[in-house]
Amino acid sequence: MLSTISPRKCHIHALAALVTLTAGSFFLHVLTNGPPYRSDSHGYLESIKETYSYYRRHRQRVNPLDFTYPIPGTDICRDGAPFFLILVISLHSRRAERDAIRSTWGSISRGKHWPRGPAGSLPPDTPPNLITKVVFLFGKHSNNSYNRELLHESAQYNDVVQANFTENYRNLTLKVLMGLKWALKQCAEAEFILKVDDDTFVNVPMMVDYVISRDYWEKTIMGFINYKPFPFRYYTKWQVSWEEYPYFRYPSYVSGNIYLFLSLTAHDLMDAAEYLPYVSMEDVYITGILAEVVRMKYHPIPRKLYNQKERATVCELATNKRIASHSITAPLHYNVWRAMLDKTCSGAEKLL
Ligand SMILES: *[C@@H]1O[C@H](CO)[C@@H](O)[C@H](O)[C@H]1NC(C)=O
Ligand SMILES: *[C@@H]1O[C@H](CO)[C@@H](O)[C@H](O)[C@H]1NC(C)=O
Ligand SMILES: *[C@@H]1O[C@H](CO)[C@@H](O)[C@H](O)[C@H]1NC(C)=O
Repeated sequence: MLSTISPRKCHIHALAALVTLTAGSFFLHVLTNGPPYRSDSHGYLESIKETYSYYRRHRQRVNPLDFTYPIPGTDICRDGAPFFLILVISLHSRRAERDAIRSTWGSISRGKHWPRGPAGSLPPDTPPNLITKVVFLFGKHSNNSYNRELLHESAQYNDVVQANFTENYRNLTLKVLMGLKWALKQCAEAEFILKVDDDTFVNVPMMVDYVISRDYWEKTIMGFINYKPFPFRYYTKWQVSWEEYPYFRYPSYVSGNIYLFLSLTAHDLMDAAEYLPYVSMEDVYITGILAEVVRMKYHPIPRKLYNQKERATVCELATNKRIASHSITAPLHYNVWRAMLDKTCSGAEKLL
């Protein structure tokens, strides 16, 4: 059979093979390295970018963010613009965690003073309630009695915002976008927006000091940076399908436990949010995809001040060695606060 192929045909076959191989390896390159980035200035990468157009704003809204607000929180920032607006992600059922935050680090939002002197290097006469406002974000629970309880809670504390999307892990991105949208409308004069989960302890004065001591916050996101990780494609709560996110790797992004940026930055991000397809991983979408599109920079939170891999001890938090920690349960919030008030931390490491 081989003898029947002419030399000319053989050439064509070889050429075809070469083309296939080149195209194939290029495609493989794009797949394994993720989408083309700004630093790749090659024309052909640009053309791939055109084709995929993932990291570009669509002309039409592909992710409409139209909400009504059963709990609109219109009074929350009425007494003035806070330095930090702290958006706390919570669930209806986690009332104990919210109450712990309200009576501990979040209490300065309600006019209490921080146990160890004034809050950071803001002018000492800054009223505590203008240092920070703590706001808890919600969608609608499928069990309406939870929604009714939330209404009472809001009447009591005036620190709740609820929008009309269904509360659900896959709607988490929606929840944070809703919070940012709310913030830009109802608390527009806030200087910084800090997003945390309700198992986070924040040393507010330390955070104030840290932020004030640097002046490069324009178009910058601070947090723990993940460098182009692979998505989970399997059955975990972080699972993302190929339809939802069509690349082998995520862009670099900041972990969702805690991140911070200027209100102005939130503005830039929200300008793009309705024009990019939805991804249910909130931190990937907001601090990765949107950030990529509007060309944000990152500022890594110093490892010794916040360790993404490890919960801080009560003592580290109480003696200002850490700026924040995740995995802080309701009882631990109180433990840290008590240690701060008593100024007795020797041996308190054992509290954990
Ligand atoms: C709804 O939530 C309440 C608590 O808020 C609970 O007592 C009740 O059993 C729940 N109902 C359903 C159908 O899950
Ligand atoms: C929420 O309200 C908006 C505005 O009325 C509406 O367009 C949207 O469909 C509602 N969403 C849900 C999930 O009900
Ligand atoms: C939220 O999640 C549920 C269930 O996954 C879905 O049906 C709903 O459309 C989502 N979006 C909104 C706006 O509620």
